[in-house]
Amino acid sequence: MWANSGLDLHLDLDPARKTDSLERGLRDAIRSGLLTPGERMPTSRSLAGDLGISRNSVAEVYGRLTSEGWLEARVGAGTWVAATPRVIAPSAPRARRQTTARLDLRAGIPDATAFPVAAWVAASRRALTAVPTSAFGYGDLRGAPPLREALAAYVSRARGVWASAEAVHVTHGFGEALALVGGALVDRGARTVAVEEYGHALHRDILRAAGLRVVPMRVDAEGADPSALGEAAADAVLLTPAHQFPTGAVLSAGRRAAFVEWARRTGGILIEDDYDGEFRYDRRAVGALQALAPEHVVYAGTASKALTPALGLAWCVLPQSLGGLVADRARLSGAATDVPSQLTLAEFLRHGDYDRAVRSSRAQYRARRERLDDLIGERLTGARLGDAQAGLQSVLELPPGASEQAVTDAAASRSLALEGLGAYFFGDCANRPPTMVIGFGAPPPHLFEDAAAAAVMAVREASRGTA
Ligand SMILES: Cc1ncc(COP(=O)(O)O)c(C=O)c1O
Repeated sequence: MWANSGLDLHLDLDPARKTDSLERGLRDAIRSGLLTPGERMPTSRSLAGDLGISRNSVAEVYGRLTSEGWLEARVGAGTWVAATPRVIAPSAPRARRQTTARLDLRAGIPDATAFPVAAWVAASRRALTAVPTSAFGYGDLRGAPPLREALAAYVSRARGVWASAEAVHVTHGFGEALALVGGALVDRGARTVAVEEYGHALHRDILRAAGLRVVPMRVDAEGADPSALGEAAADAVLLTPAHQFPTGAVLSAGRRAAFVEWARRTGGILIEDDYDGEFRYDRRAVGALQALAPEHVVYAGTASKALTPALGLAWCVLPQSLGGLVADRARLSGAATDVPSQLTLAEFLRHGDYDRAVRSSRAQYRARRERLDDLIGERLTGARLGDAQAGLQSVLELPPGASEQAVTDAAASRSLALEGLGAYFFGDCANRPPTMVIGFGAPPPHLFEDAAAAAVMAVREASRGTA
């Protein structure tokens, strides 16, 4: 402990190696924040007196820590803890969308057990034995050519996208596509992006990190509302036209036309997030918005829902004006490409495995949605799921008086992770009654029934006495 010097810090010095242990003790104290940036250190004389070591030893330690950047010395004035310490205490790593709850009904999460492992391994064997060994060198940072070909064919056929292999850019998840496109837009002068007032906070953060100002756009039963997009208000718009995430609204024909008209008039870019465009249960999926204006729309898709997020494979189809800028951003990100997974996905697409996986997941999720709807109809008087017969989640409006937080808490007490619409909200003022977002994708099949029952019980408990 030193006290005379004005600082109160306990240091255990090894009597045999006082100088070294003083150095280590001070470094640890700065690293852990016990000594804070800008704090004045005691003089070497007073610290030597406090610790019972020679003044030279303290001066030597100060000298070493100063040359390493932990301390700053001002000639004739004294010594301070450096204003920018070399090591910033790391913040705890945030696992993406993990939960300790046994049951999980959060939105947008697919059933991990549905990944067709055997078909993937077989496709991988076929793909990797068929390609020339030159494929295992440094790859094209826009994606392995066979995958870009296969994706162009797939999105044209399945989603009506106008795509050539040249326009396809393969990314590590949709998040990377957003980061690259956001950066490319900034590079050509964009400042502001409008996003739907309901959506993933992560996607808004990615756009901000790319250097864009993010502003909310109202969402109603027709999807995002373009009427507030003034000419100067936004340079780009992020949309989920097939199935608004997470409200489920399908972007109406009138709104589609209005967004396209805005893009043509202002030169703005529409980023179409087609995250679950393949999952429509009541009729044929609505085709991609991109087909209306390929030169103004970035179309983005992902393998996370139909296969697994563990692959981290997504893609975008870029307008010609953005291709080079996005490729340049990819180069500067320093990321390397994972060619074997890309070649496997190419084979998976060509061989019809991807379509089979989509069909099988679609049937599963459709059955789950129907089961959930029945359960709610039976056990929650007057309640029903939102209309959207699509995707991996539906909304459930709560009875008057019940709050989203109360349902989330009641669910947590049953070890069920369940979120309200508020968890996705970013607008100015919420224009909806309290509503839960029920994802039916995440549970493995043997836990789905338990999860659905727990959700119904949580809503009942939180609504008791409020109706
Ligand atoms: C709205 C939306 N867009 C895109 C994605 C796909 O993201 P990724 O490819 O990063 O898994 C998700 C996944 O949760 C999503 O919910």
